[in-house]
Amino acid sequence: MKESLPRIVPPGLPPARHTASRLPVGDPRSPAPHRASGRPDAGPSARFIGWNIIRTARFSPRNQEGREMATTKKFQDLLLAELSDVYSAETQIAEALPKLAQKVSASELRRLLEEHLQETKGQIARLDKAFAALGAKPEAKTCKAMQGLVAEADELLSAGLAPEVLDAALIAAAQKVEHYEIASYGSLKAYADACGLDAVADLMDETLREEKATDEKLTAVATSTLNASAVQASVG
Ligand SMILES: [Fe+2]
Repeated sequence: MKESLPRIVPPGLPPARHTASRLPVGDPRSPAPHRASGRPDAGPSARFIGWNIIRTARFSPRNQEGREMATTKKFQDLLLAELSDVYSAETQIAEALPKLAQKVSASELRRLLEEHLQETKGQIARLDKAFAALGAKPEAKTCKAMQGLVAEADELLSAGLAPEVLDAALIAAAQKVEHYEIASYGSLKAYADACGLDAVADLMDETLREEKATDEKLTAVATSTLNASAVQASVG
C-alpha cells in the first residue's frame, strides 16, 4: 500500500492548494480562479514561496524526476542567497566586535566577546568552504537586519549608561545577533539537508553549535553577575 507522505503546514499559514481544492465552493480559503492567460493564479500561499520550495523539494513524487531536479536548482539558489546574507552578517560582526569589546567593563564579558571574534573569523572561513562546495564564489549580500542590530548596539555606546548597565545592555545586543545567526544557520543546515548536501550541512551545523554555545555563555554571564551589578549600580 502506498504510504501517504506527511503534510507539514506551519501554524498561521494558509492551506496548501491541494487542500484548498477540497474546500466547499465559495469557501474564502478556496484558491483564486485561473487568470485569462490560462495560467493558475499564484494565490495567497505564493507569499510563502520559501516554505513551498522546501515542501516540494522534499516530497516531490519520484516519477517526476525532471521537475524535482529543476526545483532543487531553485532551492539551491535560495541556499546561496541565504549564504550571501549570513556572509555579510558575519563580516559586519567581525568589524563591530572589537569596538564593543573595548567598551565593556566586565573582564569576563570582554573575554567572551574577544573569543567570539576569533570564532567569527572561523565561521567566515567555513562559509568560504560552503560556497566552494557549491561551486560558487563567496559573495556578501548586505544583511540589513545585521546593519540594524549593529546600529542599535552603537546607539547604546552613546546613551550615557552607567558602565554596569551598558554591560547588561550589550549582552542583550549580542544575544540578538546570536539569535539572528542561529535562525540563519538553522535554516541553512535544513536547506542543505533537504538538498542532500551533507558537507555543507555539516559546516552549517558546526557554526550553529558555536552560536548556540555563545548565546548560552552570554546568558550565564548576565544572570550570574552582570544583571545584578547593573541593578546595584542603578540603585546606588
Ligand atoms: Fe557568527
